[in-house]
Amino acid sequence: MPDYLPFPEGPFRLAMGLLSLDPADWIEIDENFVEELRLKRRLLAERHEECFLALPGSEPGGAETLEMLAEHLPTRFPGIYRREGEVLLIEPLGERHELRRSDLHPLDLAGRLVQEDLCLMRAEGDSYVLAALSVCFPSRWRIAEKLGKPLAAIHEPVAFYDEKLARPVDRFFGLLKEDKPVQRLNWNLLDDRALFQPGGHNRKERDPSITAENAGERLFIRVERQTLRRLPRTKDVLFGIRTYVRPLAHIAERPLDCRRLAEAMRALPEPTFRYKSFPVFAEAALAWLDRHAAAAPVRTAS
Ligand code: HEM
Repeated sequence: MPDYLPFPEGPFRLAMGLLSLDPADWIEIDENFVEELRLKRRLLAERHEECFLALPGSEPGGAETLEMLAEHLPTRFPGIYRREGEVLLIEPLGERHELRRSDLHPLDLAGRLVQEDLCLMRAEGDSYVLAALSVCFPSRWRIAEKLGKPLAAIHEPVAFYDEKLARPVDRFFGLLKEDKPVQRLNWNLLDDRALFQPGGHNRKERDPSITAENAGERLFIRVERQTLRRLPRTKDVLFGIRTYVRPLAHIAERPLDCRRLAEAMRALPEPTFRYKSFPVFAEAALAWLDRHAAAAPVRTAS
C-alpha cells in the first residue's frame, strides 16, 4: 500500500491541489487487490443500486473506459491481467471477463476490474454532470444523491467549495487535455475502517469509548488518490478514486507525521471540522497525536 500522508501544513486553504499524472501510473494495485475485488463482487451482488448507477446515454463513455482499461491493465500488470481477444483474465481471481456484454453497463464491468472506483462526467452546459458511477467505497456519501448532478451540486455539503473551488474546478474540467491526466490526494480521519461507508457526515455526539489510549487502533487514516483524465473519443472526463485505509497507529513511530496531522486537524474551520464528524473523537485523536508528536524536533520561528 503506498504511503500517502497528504496532511497540509500551515493555515487551512481549500485548493484543487492537482498534480500531473504519468498515464502509466493511472491504476494502482496493492496487497489488498484480491480482497477488495471480492468485496466489490459482494457489494455489487447484494446492494447493486447503492454501488452502481448510470444515466441513459452514458454507455459510450463507459465503453471507452472499459476499452482503455482492457488495453492498459495487461500491459502494465502482466502477471495479474491477460488479454485473449475480447476476453480479459484476472489471474489472481481466476476470472474471465467477456469485454462485450449486453447484460452489464460497460462502466459497471470496468469498475469490477480494478480497486479504483470510477465516475464518468459528461459535459452539459457550463459544467459537467455525473453520468455514471461505479463506487463501492464511498467516503460517507450516497451515489443516488449525486447521479445526474453538476459538479457544484455534487459538492453542496462541502464547506467553502462554492466560494473557493466551484469556478476553478469547472474551468479546469473544460481545459483538461487528453494527454495530460492529473491526480490529487484527499485525507481524512474516521472512526470506521469499512471501505463501503454511505453517509456519516456531520455527526457531533462524542464517542467516549474512543480515548487517548486506544485512538491508534480505533481511528483510521483514509486517503483518497483521485485521478482525472479526458477520454479521447467521447470527451467525457473519467474520475478515479482509489481509497487507502490504515489504523492511525501506522504513524505512531513517526512524530513529524503525527504533528502534521494534529496541525491539519486544528487548522480546520468549524464547518469542515463538523462535516468530517471530528467532534465525535477529536479530543482523543489530538491527545494521542500530541503524545506521539512529542519526539519531533521543535520547529523554530523563521
Ligand atoms: C478537481 C476536482 C475536484 C476537487 C478539487 C474536489 C474537491 C473536493 C473536496 C475538498 C471535498 C471534501 C472532502 C473532505 O473534506 O473529505 C470533496 C468531496 C466530494 N467530492 Fe470532490 N472534488 C473534485 C472532483 C470531484 C468529482 C469529479 C466528483 C465526481 C464524482 C467528486 C465527488 C465528490 C463527492 C461525492 C464528495 C463528497 C460530498 C459529500 O460529502 O456529499 N469530486 N471534493
